[in-house]
Formats: sequence, C-alpha cells, structure tokens
Amino acid sequence: MKKAIVIILSLVLALSMFAACTKSGGDPSPSENAPAENTTAADVPAWKTIGEALAAEKDESSEQSAIYAKVFVYVFEKDGTYWRLTAELSDEESAALSALDILDEDYAEKEKALITPLAVTKCESLNELKLSDEDLAALVGKTGKELLDDGWNTGMGYNLDSMEFYWEHGPFAYTVTFEKQEDLENTDDFDETAAVAELKVASVKFDGLGNTCTDISEYFDDEEQDAAIDYLVLVNKQNKLPDDWEETVDLAEGTNSLDETYLVERKALAQFELLRADLLKDGIDIELDSTYRSVKRQQEIWDEFEAEKGLEYAQTYVAVPGYSEHHTGLAIDVCLIKDGVVISDNDDMIAEKEIFAEIHKRLADYGFILRYLEGKEDVTGYGYEPWHFRYIDSPEIAHEIMDGGLTLEEYLGAVPDTTE
Ligand code: DAL
Ligand code: ZN
Repeated sequence: MKKAIVIILSLVLALSMFAACTKSGGDPSPSENAPAENTTAADVPAWKTIGEALAAEKDESSEQSAIYAKVFVYVFEKDGTYWRLTAELSDEESAALSALDILDEDYAEKEKALITPLAVTKCESLNELKLSDEDLAALVGKTGKELLDDGWNTGMGYNLDSMEFYWEHGPFAYTVTFEKQEDLENTDDFDETAAVAELKVASVKFDGLGNTCTDISEYFDDEEQDAAIDYLVLVNKQNKLPDDWEETVDLAEGTNSLDETYLVERKALAQFELLRADLLKDGIDIELDSTYRSVKRQQEIWDEFEAEKGLEYAQTYVAVPGYSEHHTGLAIDVCLIKDGVVISDNDDMIAEKEIFAEIHKRLADYGFILRYLEGKEDVTGYGYEPWHFRYIDSPEIAHEIMDGGLTLEEYLGAVPDTTE
C-alpha cells in the first residue's frame, strides 16, 4: 500500500526539475523574489515558500487551494497573472492538513500555520489557458452543444431569467449567456445540458478562477503513474475486483464529524474533504458512512440485509462479496446530517431529493460520479443510490459522465447484455 505514495512523491520531485519557473540563484528577499508585472512564467523566479506567496500583495478574492495526495496546490491572481504553485507534502504534513476541520473557528489560522513553511517545487502561469477577448467573441453564435463538445463544463449554476449559465473552460470560470428561450422552467430535474444544446450563445464573459483550477492530474499522467491504480476500474455484477488491487491501492484514514474512522483511497479522500467543505458552506453536511470494505465485511453486510429485508432487497442494493466497488477504496457512501439528525437509512436518503440534487451537481468538480442512477437500474444492476459516490480522479471525465447522465458502464462501453 506504500507504493503509490512513493510514486507520486518521486514524480513531483522529477517534475520540479522541469519547473516552468525555477528558483533563482542567491537568496533574494520575498519582495525581490516576486514576479514583476508583465512577465511570463519562463522568466520569473519562484516564490520560495507558500508563505511568501501568501504574503504577496494580491486580490484575496481570487485564490484557491487544494491537497492532492502528497501535494499542496495554491492558485491566485497577482497583477493580471494567474499563478499555480505546488508544494510537496511529507506524510505528517499531509495528515495534519487532512485532519483540519473546516467548522473549527480557528481553521484558517491553523491551515495558514501548516502551509506557510511549505517549499514551492513548481510555479507556473495559467494565463495561456485563459480565453482572450477574441476567443470569447468567436463563441457568439455557437450552440451549447458545440461548447460542451469543445471541452466546456457545466455545473456551477445558472439563472434562467437572464439566461446566464456559469460554466468553466480549463481552470477558469465564465458566464455564458444564451439567446432567450421563453419555455425554460427551473424544475427539479432541469437538465441544463439538454436545455441549451441547440441554443445559440449571445455573449461570454470571463469571471476568474473556476472550481477545477487546482486540478493537477496531468502532472501524474506518465508511465510511472500507469503502474499505480486504474481510477476507471469497472467493478460490477459482471466484473470482479482485480486480483492485485489491494496490494497497489494507497488507503488513507479519514474521520467523520461523528468521530468514526474510515479507509478511503488517498486522493479520493482528499477530494471528498474538499467537496464536503464546499457543501458545508451552503449548509449541506455529508459525512463518511461506508467506504473501503474487505470481502469479509461485504459478506457481513450482505447477511445483515438479507436477514432484515430479504434476498431480493439484498440483490438490489448489496453487491456479492468480491464484486463490490467498495473493495476498491474509491467508493464512498455518505449519510446526511440535517438539523442535527443523522439520516442514513436508504429510504430516508432517497426522500432527500433536493439536498442530493445539490450534492450531485458538485460531484464532478471533485472527480466523483454518481454510480447507481435512477432509471439506469438495468445497466448498473442496482437500485438508485443517491449516496454512493465513486472517485474516478478526472474532473473532465467525471463531467462528461455526469453532464451526459451516463453510468460508468455506458462511458466505458461495457453495458452488460442482460438479455441472456
Ligand atoms: N451498494 C453497492 C452496490 C455495493 O454493495 O457495493
Ligand atoms: Zn455504496
């Protein structure tokens, strides 16, 4: 289980040798070290620590940070340049940051103390990924479908009165305004992808950093990482857990606010914490409820459900041991805390339609998909489970799956033939 950590860490070290802006000679003070205006990533020295970047004079409304396995990422704007800094984390630093509780009133102070001394190993400008005014003007008249086919992502909300849709392209957020359409209604199952597919873009405005600006998954896209786990692994009624999975996966321990501990694949856990923090800001509290399960634990769950609810119910909601996605460490079942009450019963959770609709909207931004969809029971083989999230590591692919209303089987072209 240690292998993945070593691979990710060595990759970061290797990558730092090719850093877009490397440390300059000598030992300049933070102010000498800050990039001058109108410079590019290729010819400026790096901030040496995250603390120096935090202290740089900038607009604090446009900064974001994230933890990816053993890497801390900090993105901010200074003088018109959007900088992304990365810093590698030791096991202790990673654990200390993951253990912070966003509800703690000293959260910001504690986080600052932990990230201030981190040494920057890579510094890059994101500006070339920003669409120019000409690029934006060229989008006018295109259809929603054309934008989505061209890598745009939905999921940040919309305002049907003004026909504004808050979409993302690369690391940035934009307001895309479509031509007026009188019959659009904001119902519970409003599907923005379908609604604007044929509508024409009236204007596009740059808004700043998007939710995925800290996504550094491309750093890990090389041969060494290929030796680690396959985040798109398909485990379902037809496909058993791969034999060597448990020796390769890097499980980390997470704690929920009920003080229960859970094992989850390391990157999945870090992204879950960010998703949870994002939802908490809007008063939605999701908690870890069931994560990695051994085959033995799956058997116990099967036995409990069969005894309490009967064989048919067990077959609809519980995988046969050896065939559960929970064995991968990439599946997370959540429960809800609403008005101080824990909601974890299947039927009670299915009834929380509004809350889950809001949660599902944000899953893809953090690399998660909803695995067992309503109306796709024949494809997945299971009943609707609004609580079961699956980490697939790539927000882009997750958006393609979630925005398209797809199951993982459909995305992978592996829909089982159930007619046999
Ligand atoms: N509830 C899902 C199907 C599992 O048991 O893996
Ligand atoms: Zn589950």
